[in-house]
Order: sequence, then structure tokens, then C-alpha cells
Amino acid sequence: MTELAELIRSATERLSAVGVPSARHDAEALAVHVLGVPRSRLPAFGSPTGEERSAYHVAVDRRAAREPLQHITGRAAFRHLDLAVGPGVFVPRPETEVVIDWCLAALARESAASAGDSPGIGPAVVVDLCAGSGAVALAIATERPDTVVYAVEREPAAYRWLERNVAASGVGGGRVRCVLADIAMLPPTVADLAGTVDLVVSNPPYIPLGSRPLDPEVAEHDPAAALWAGVDGLDVIRTVALVATGLLRPGGALALEHADVQGAAVLRLLIDAGWASVADHRDLTGRDRFATANREYRAGAEGD
Ligand SMILES: C[S@@+](CC[C@H](N)C(=O)[O-])C[C@H]1O[C@@H](n2cnc3c(N)ncnc32)[C@H](O)[C@@H]1O
Repeated sequence: MTELAELIRSATERLSAVGVPSARHDAEALAVHVLGVPRSRLPAFGSPTGEERSAYHVAVDRRAAREPLQHITGRAAFRHLDLAVGPGVFVPRPETEVVIDWCLAALARESAASAGDSPGIGPAVVVDLCAGSGAVALAIATERPDTVVYAVEREPAAYRWLERNVAASGVGGGRVRCVLADIAMLPPTVADLAGTVDLVVSNPPYIPLGSRPLDPEVAEHDPAAALWAGVDGLDVIRTVALVATGLLRPGGALALEHADVQGAAVLRLLIDAGWASVADHRDLTGRDRFATANREYRAGAEGD
């Protein structure tokens, strides 16, 4: 066993002992971070320097204290993105990646349907409500270059990470527009899009107040504004649905992430509010994860 392999083995044991899920994965990820080599080079790495060993011990200590891996490395992977994250912003989760699949498919269906009617039609307009690090907005903008995406975030600390990720993304032409605002009080930049937006997507806070226990990584490091949403956890989801109704064009699509136990409640809320094609979807672990719907076509409404 190489010296590095031994370090990783003992870090894995330590992380495992304090209840870190995926202890081996995290021990390796911290080695990759400290040594600056790809994971595939770890087995052949040999002996770290004294300085590298100390840095690794510090990183493992932080993880053992249940600081999120992504705060220690400063990076979070989301689809093909490598986002900057840290204190003040929600760490994007793999569960949200399937929401993007649905959004891309909805946009593809829409452009296929409109290709015949309106050749040369402009970019699809997307609004990401509760944007956090920009994971959702940037995934859509980078995977669909024919979109303009508005990313709305209320918390100044999270907004700074959003701006930083958008600036680093290389997405040009102002195609991702950061908006510092409460989704319930949209400024004209977004409010003036009323009735024209093709897709509204949101991964809002949705944990019911008082829910316990949360993992220390979540309770102590994800910002409170990213987690809690009223007694039933649906306060922000209700606002998103209301705001989306005003923003979307008739037939425009909504994709809304929720907790695994909220599928039925969110479907009911959308059906009662008159949304069309309401459906719920599971994530890769088989749990209810997001609801989708289309803004109804009202007889006589603009665009019908
Ligand atoms: C669960 S996080 C999701 C962040 C990002 N969409 C993602 O998937 O990683 C929810 C985000 O919504 C923001 N937020 C909460 N309430 C908001 C509101 N009323 N208006 C705008 N942003 C809000 C929080 O600050 C947080 O960044």
C-alpha cells in the first residue's frame, strides 16, 4: 500500500466513525483537492510531502466536523458544471439534475413544435426562481445555447456566488441575467416579461419549519433561507406557482422541485390553481421529486 493509500484508508475510517456518508468517496475527493491531481492518479501517487500531509489532515478534520465536502473544496459538481460554492449559498444537489432533463426536453418539444410555424423565432425565455449558486440557470443556459435565462435570488450572500458562477461560466451575450430580488416582488427586468416566458423552473426552499433531524452539513452550513418554507414547507412553492402563472405565456411550462413527501400536496395545489398537464416525477432514487405543469390556454387569451 502506498503512503497516500494508507492516509486515505485511515481518513475513511475516521470519517466513517463520525457518521459521514460516502466516507471513502470524501476521503479520496479531499486527496484530489489537496494534491491537485485527478482521482485516476491517486493509486500511483506515492508519498505526499509533509506540507501536503498536513493540508490533508486539516481537510479531513474539517470534514469530520461535518463541514460539507463542497465547502472544503470550494467546488460543487452539477451536471457538467463545476460551480464555486461556500458559506452563504446552498450546495446544489444531484436530485435537482433530473429537473434539468425535464426542462431541456420541454424546451426541445417546444422548439420542434414552433419550428414549422415561426422559423427564425427568438431564443426561449427561461426564469429560474430561487437561483442560489446558479446551478439550474447555468445548466439550462449552457446545455441550450438558444435560451435567455433570468436567475432570481433574494439573499445577497447567495447572489454573490450566483454572479461569480455566471461570470466564470463563459456564457456570453448576457444570456444569463442575475436579478437580486424577492420572487414575490419582481423588479421590472423580470416583471415586464409577464405572459411571454417559455419556462419557469424553481428549486425553492421546501422544508417544513421545525423538521428534525437534519444532517449537520445541512443544518449548520446550508443557509436557512434555502431550507425553511413555513409550517407545511409549501410557502415558497405557493409563491412560485403564483408568480409563474403571471410570467408564463399560455402553454408555457413550469418545473418545480419539492420534498419527497410533498408530491401529492404540490399536485393538488397546481390542479386547484387551474394548471394544465399537471404531473409529478421521481428522482434517480425513485422518490417523488418535482412537479411539472403548463399554464392553461384560456379561451380568448393572448397567444391562443
Ligand atoms: C434550495 S436553494 C436552491 C438553489 C438553487 N436553485 C439550486 O438548486 O441549487 C433555494 C434558494 O432560494 C432562495 N430564496 C428563498 N426565498 C426566496 C425568495 N422569496 N425570493 C428569492 N430567492 C429566495 C434562497 O436564498 C436559496 O438560495
